Amino acid sequence: MKAAPKHWVVLPAAGAGRRFGSAVPKQYLPLGDRRVIEHSIAVFIEHPLIAGCIVALSPGDEWWQETAYVDHPAVVRVPGGAERFDSVANALAALANQAAADDWVLVHDAARPCLTTADLDRLLAALIDEPVGALLAVPMHDTVKSAEEAFGARVERTLPRQQLWRAFTPQAFRLGQLRDALAYCRAERMAITDDASAMEQLGLRPLLIEGRADNIKITRPEDLPLAEFFLEQQRRQEQR
Ligand code: CTP
Ligand code: MG
Repeated sequence: MKAAPKHWVVLPAAGAGRRFGSAVPKQYLPLGDRRVIEHSIAVFIEHPLIAGCIVALSPGDEWWQETAYVDHPAVVRVPGGAERFDSVANALAALANQAAADDWVLVHDAARPCLTTADLDRLLAALIDEPVGALLAVPMHDTVKSAEEAFGARVERTLPRQQLWRAFTPQAFRLGQLRDALAYCRAERMAITDDASAMEQLGLRPLLIEGRADNIKITRPEDLPLAEFFLEQQRRQEQR
């Protein structure tokens, strides 16, 4: 009998946080009682279905060794790359030594510390009998405009909001397929900002799982107090 697929986590954490602009990269900033990245890892490490976690770190990283997971047996570090995409690809290559091609890989931004166990459970449940994979996402509530130039100020048109979702993480795909998709995008020199879009380039249609809107990515300085507020609210509602 074929073994049931395992679930692994890849945490890209090799970014410099240019938009945030702090001296210490945003994933290592204090957030409540721990650092941002420690919140991001904890929800997976505490979950019984997660087999292990690969963290992609900048080669010059001076902060990982200060974290609670530096000697954790289920957490392995690998060197990240120039783009998020490269960091994920490096982690998947390392994972291929111990995981099967049809194991699930959940890719989650290290800078996204407010994921709840309930959302993780919902994503994992969606993977049962799922052929392609799934991602947490939130329907768009704002009206969305497209601009006439990339960073132009004038509206070109308004996009139909009913079909628009904000793509969050984790995003879960089969190890082998995700590796193929990233390799294809690299060969075609496509700039992709999430893993689902690499799968889409192969003609696959990932499943959108509605998640909580508080699963934010810390991008700019104002996001950090917001994350702290969300974590506090979750704690009060016993969501964590
Ligand atoms: N990331 C990575 N390797 C890179 C770039 C980003 O592992 N070469 C990671 C970041 O550490 C983060 C996640 O990918 O956890 C999402 O990226 P983003 O929010 O863009 O973080 P940064 O790239 O660090 O920020 P910025 O784009 O503002 O520089
Ligand atoms: Mg970035």
